[in-house]
Amino acid sequence: MDSLSFTLIVALLCIPFCAVMKEDPCSLKQTCGACIQEPKCFWCSDPLLNETEQQRCSQRKDHCDKNYIIDQITNYTELRKKPLVSYTSNVSEVIQITPQEVYLNMRVNDPINITLKYARAEYPVDLYYLMDLSFSMKDDKDTLQTLGWNLEELMRKFTSDFRLGFGSFVDKVSRPYTSTIPAKLEAPCKNCKSPYGFHNHMKLSDNVTQFLLEVSAANVSGNVDEPEGGLDALMQSVVCSEEIGWRRNARKLLVFSTDTGFHIAGDGKLGGIIEPNDGKCHLDEGGMYTHSTLQDYPSILHLKHRVRENAINILFAVTKPQQEVYSLLSKNIDGAKVGHLTANSSNILELVEEQYKKVSSSVDMQHDAPEYIQVTFYTSCQSSSEAVRQSNKCNELKIGQEVEFQVEIVVRSCPADPSDWNQTFRIFPVGSQEAVLVYLEMSCECSCEHHEHSEYIEDAPQCSGNGTYMCGVCACNSMHFGKKCQCSSSEPLSTGTELHRDCKPRKDQNVSDCYGHGTCTCGVCQCTEMFYGKYCECDDFSCKQEDSELCAGHGSCKCGICQCEAGWIGDTCSCPVSTENCRSAEESKLCSDHGRCICGTCQCSEKYMGKYCEEQIPTVDQSTLCESLFPCVLCQVHKRGSLTSEQCAEKCTNLTIKKVDAVEENITGGTDCEQDYDECQLKYQYLYSETSAIEIKALHELKCPIQMSYYTYAVPVVVVFIIIGVVLALWKWLTLKKEKLEFRRFINEQEMSNWGVDTNPLYKSPVSVYNNPTHDEFS
Ligand SMILES: *[C@@H]1O[C@H](CO)[C@@H](O)[C@H](O)[C@H]1NC(C)=O
Ligand SMILES: *[C@@H]1O[C@H](CO)[C@@H](O)[C@H](O)[C@H]1NC(C)=O
Ligand SMILES: *[C@@H]1O[C@H](CO)[C@@H](O)[C@H](O)[C@H]1NC(C)=O
Ligand SMILES: *[C@@H]1O[C@H](CO)[C@@H](O)[C@H](O)[C@H]1NC(C)=O
Ligand SMILES: *[C@@H]1O[C@H](CO)[C@@H](O)[C@H](O)[C@H]1NC(C)=O
Ligand SMILES: *[C@@H]1O[C@H](CO)[C@@H](O)[C@H](O)[C@H]1NC(C)=O
Ligand SMILES: *[C@@H]1O[C@H](CO)[C@@H](O)[C@H](O)[C@H]1NC(C)=O
Ligand SMILES: *[C@@H]1O[C@H](CO)[C@@H](O)[C@H](O)[C@H]1NC(C)=O
Ligand SMILES: *[C@@H]1O[C@H](CO)[C@@H](O)[C@H](O)[C@H]1NC(C)=O
Ligand SMILES: *[C@@H]1O[C@H](CO)[C@@H](O)[C@H](O)[C@H]1NC(C)=O
Ligand SMILES: *[C@@H]1O[C@H](CO)[C@@H](O)[C@H](O)[C@H]1NC(C)=O
Ligand SMILES: *[C@@H]1O[C@H](CO)[C@@H](O)[C@H](O)[C@H]1NC(C)=O
Repeated sequence: MDSLSFTLIVALLCIPFCAVMKEDPCSLKQTCGACIQEPKCFWCSDPLLNETEQQRCSQRKDHCDKNYIIDQITNYTELRKKPLVSYTSNVSEVIQITPQEVYLNMRVNDPINITLKYARAEYPVDLYYLMDLSFSMKDDKDTLQTLGWNLEELMRKFTSDFRLGFGSFVDKVSRPYTSTIPAKLEAPCKNCKSPYGFHNHMKLSDNVTQFLLEVSAANVSGNVDEPEGGLDALMQSVVCSEEIGWRRNARKLLVFSTDTGFHIAGDGKLGGIIEPNDGKCHLDEGGMYTHSTLQDYPSILHLKHRVRENAINILFAVTKPQQEVYSLLSKNIDGAKVGHLTANSSNILELVEEQYKKVSSSVDMQHDAPEYIQVTFYTSCQSSSEAVRQSNKCNELKIGQEVEFQVEIVVRSCPADPSDWNQTFRIFPVGSQEAVLVYLEMSCECSCEHHEHSEYIEDAPQCSGNGTYMCGVCACNSMHFGKKCQCSSSEPLSTGTELHRDCKPRKDQNVSDCYGHGTCTCGVCQCTEMFYGKYCECDDFSCKQEDSELCAGHGSCKCGICQCEAGWIGDTCSCPVSTENCRSAEESKLCSDHGRCICGTCQCSEKYMGKYCEEQIPTVDQSTLCESLFPCVLCQVHKRGSLTSEQCAEKCTNLTIKKVDAVEENITGGTDCEQDYDECQLKYQYLYSETSAIEIKALHELKCPIQMSYYTYAVPVVVVFIIIGVVLALWKWLTLKKEKLEFRRFINEQEMSNWGVDTNPLYKSPVSVYNNPTHDEFS
């Protein structure tokens, strides 16, 4: 058997084996728990397993006894699946989502799809009207009074079972939110009621007369600062299900109307209220909020959770200037919407109608799974035109219309705390009490890793008394390692997962132990036949080849490196040490002194050629050669020039002309030529080939300057001149006009100023006449 076929056979043997070693992510897992956390891997706990045939953790099951295979299949069971009920007179029988409870057993990164069906049902409606009753809302209250009956009429359009409730709020009765001067506390403004935090005037009820009475009886109040205690009131009306009278099986609508902003958690500090809001119901018998001055305002996140738990749809009916801030608030609260309220609330009915329609005709699926469980919704919303896409929302559903959701659930990783391996979470449509309960059990460990398991043995004899036997392998105590914990170490090892130590180079931890070519015993590799080295990294058949022979047949292969026989050197032992081949018979000098002898052949210096560099490359006047080759290149490459085709064929036969896309410049032995032809440039290069004939490489394209036509020059010039002319004319016209104006103004002024001929009012005659009073008498 020659060395080539030997190499081939070894390579063929290696292919299946080595490939599995490299690609199987299972093979690196050392414990059963780690193994089943890797998708598609399974563990073989057979104590008699022949580990050269079958890895403990693997994707293949060929050599493992069926009874010992530990595999967790992601599966799911529907625990409760009542059919959908959309039309019924008994509200408690309505079912909008199915199944109601599922149980999942899941492996990490192994996705599963469960199918949910949703159908909207006719639902009773609870509408709680929560109103800001600070002074500026007086007109709004008056409007509400007049609208009362219409509100009822409107809701009857949607459902026959309909309840109304009414509550109001001002702000905390404490400075700086409200004035605490006794007189102001009594009546902060004319005909005002004393301020309060939140008042539930009327529990949800179907008595519309009472609603109207309550609204008219409620008087506005007053406070000091601009934002109000709306969140306090919102929190109470959401969490006080009993006091407000929210029905479990109703669609809950809360209309929050105001014309100012709101205080948030932390604002309480201004009034010395530092206890945080506890999110619990604190209403007295009269429906007054008792903890208004004891607890701070709630935070938005806190409110969001309570709203989600109670499945309440909030409509913020606010005036235009407040819309922006309430839109931001609504983005943080599931199912909340913002409506634009006119100054006197005259459009409140339209807002309620719109909101109700939106809420009831759409479905928005949400979940409350922890972040290591990924839940993705897919649906086509049952429309025939749309494909299934990733979405959790469907709009414009009719009562009884079924929508199917594919819910893909993936466990991304096992949480560190085993108590988190069993999870219960909900998948629910926003604003509805109904939900799918998901019980999820993650497969993060094997049952044989528990001490209750029959084959779990601590300090087991098969683990040299220094390890725990479980799932067919030993988990060694600290300071011990090895398959049977037979090896001990002076330094403590990290957990029992590290069965093998130092069986691979530190810098390359990704490779299998002993590179898969041996077994690791107490940190020492026992290599299989043909392999050797500390980590079995060496063999004698994977050296470089030359002429399909290992080490060119002039050396032996040792650990991937050719050890050359005497007289040979190089990576592949293909270079003779002897320089005999570089010396011609007649010449004693190496490469005729015109080159170097490398790997047994001459590498000639410039200007020389030949086997022994004995021949000088004929020196021709380079510039004239360029010129004399020019007609040939021109006629052969471009079919132009002075030569006719017959002449071309005759004169240029000895030249090999290659047409190229680019000429590589400045190559050794080559000469670059450039000749002009008809304003174009012809580029080519010639060099001497081994047979000393001239070889030419010529660009197959002529480099010509861009052709400029008459128009390309003339048109822009004319245009520029025209523009300059127009600009000049415009300028001239403008200045002329300006001058004319100024001239006219000058004339006008001249006409108006006729003082020129009058005496200067400032002028005083230098002549003063003084009559001597005595003169006359004496004259
Ligand atoms: C394991 O299997 C290999 C290959 O089939 C065999 O050569 C070896 O003897 C077996 N070892 C044991 C302990 O059975
Ligand atoms: C789901 O998988 C678990 C564990 O793999 C198994 O015990 C259970 O029987 C399986 N259930 C179904 C319905 O296949
Ligand atoms: C409504 O259905 C629930 C549950 O099915 C039942 O307990 C209740 O008695 C029914 N009520 C009426 C009024 O039929
Ligand atoms: C789940 O269903 C969606 C939509 O049909 C699909 O894109 C996805 O690949 C499915 N996932 C699994 C694990 O089947
Ligand atoms: C509300 O104001 C509008 C004009 O802004 C007016 O037309 C309407 O009559 C008012 N409505 C009520 C109930 O006062
Ligand atoms: C509400 O205001 C009216 C006058 O507008 C007044 O007659 C009535 O007493 C006030 N009610 C309360 C409870 O203050
Ligand atoms: C509605 O409420 C009013 C006022 O509270 C009361 O007089 C009336 O009896 C109630 N009607 C019904 C049907 O309860
Ligand atoms: C998870 O629940 C199953 C039963 O549903 C139970 O056997 C198992 O011990 C639980 N696991 C954890 C980590 O609590
Ligand atoms: C456990 O290891 C210690 C050395 O660390 C050794 O002395 C002892 O004999 C081992 N136990 C058994 C049962 O081999
Ligand atoms: C080792 O494996 C890890 C993860 O598979 C990879 O990120 C890393 O680049 C690998 N290192 C080497 C030296 O191949
Ligand atoms: C072509 O080459 C031959 C011999 O190689 C030579 O005799 C002949 O003169 C050459 N012709 C031209 C035109 O250079
Ligand atoms: C070729 O060499 C000339 C002069 O030696 C130099 O100016 C030119 O840049 C070189 N061209 C390339 C492509 O290296």
